[in-house]
Amino acid sequence: MTNTIQSSADGAIDQASEVLNQGGLVAVPTETVYGLAARANIDNAVERIFTVKGRPSGHPLILHIPHADELSRYVASIPQSAKILAAHCWPGPLTLLLVKSNNVSHLVTGGRETVAIRVPASATTRQIIEKCGHAIAAPSANRFGRVSPTTAQHVEADLGNEIELIVDDGDCSIGVESTIIDLTGQRPQLLRPGGFPLEDLEAILGSSIDPPAGESRASGMLASHYAPRGSVVLAESIDQANELLRHTPRSRILDHYANLPMYAASLYSQMRQADNDGIAVIIAVLPPASGLGRAIADRLTKASLA
Ligand code: TXA
Ligand code: MG
Repeated sequence: MTNTIQSSADGAIDQASEVLNQGGLVAVPTETVYGLAARANIDNAVERIFTVKGRPSGHPLILHIPHADELSRYVASIPQSAKILAAHCWPGPLTLLLVKSNNVSHLVTGGRETVAIRVPASATTRQIIEKCGHAIAAPSANRFGRVSPTTAQHVEADLGNEIELIVDDGDCSIGVESTIIDLTGQRPQLLRPGGFPLEDLEAILGSSIDPPAGESRASGMLASHYAPRGSVVLAESIDQANELLRHTPRSRILDHYANLPMYAASLYSQMRQADNDGIAVIIAVLPPASGLGRAIADRLTKASLA
């Protein structure tokens, strides 16, 4: 068993920041999914993230900072669009891709000159980072290519024994990863749909955001991602799902069609539960690809292709 501490426990923030400052790995809560954190300027700690996750080293990590004021430490310049989005959306499930400063190592960015940065909503995690005095690098705390963890128990199941500490803050409220927007080009571009609806970001910016295009630079865009062990079959309606259910042995329906926030919040835990229950086929009702539905449909489609 990995050492797990409740986020509300006395000394939780001190303990977590101390482990990080000594080069250890700590699973931290965020509003999207649990992250596997290392202090971003301790190279061997960052390298261990890749080993523990089984993640190829070219895949860049997201830098997590405690508040928007810290952005200037880690990026070379802050375009107006980043100022606007940071002011309106942080803390929250939005990651911005910007040109990195010299304070960010190529280990974190996978050799790129760009860095993905966000301010997570979890007050505990922001206090841990603040106490560290340096940004943390944190991918989702799952094994590479598997479903992201939305509870401390999920982290324990995937990475138990291999990390120093898990900070347990209960269920993640959003349940799908952050939206990633690339602000390094002429126009803002969506790299990964996520917990912050694209339409809301466009309204805040007062301009449209280009769709993902060409060869994707985000590893989360690989088809093999976000997949449970059982196969995922997509249905267009609950009626179609029920029809499939009748003809498919060891199958189960996944649907919160009428409540997208609940669909997102329970998506990964339902996939894990189905695996644990020996379900062979998950029949998922695909929501319309708008608002939060865009991220849910994206993850379900990827899982169905895996
Ligand atoms: O909600 C989230 O974003 C969670 C929590 C823990 O914050 N983190 C997360 O990290 O989903 P990860 O590593 O599982 O996914 C990060 C995504 C990957 O698809 C990665 O390729 C992309 O961000 N990314 C990071 N840095 C990048 C860069 N410099 N250029 C392009 N893509 C980048
Ligand atoms: Mg991930």
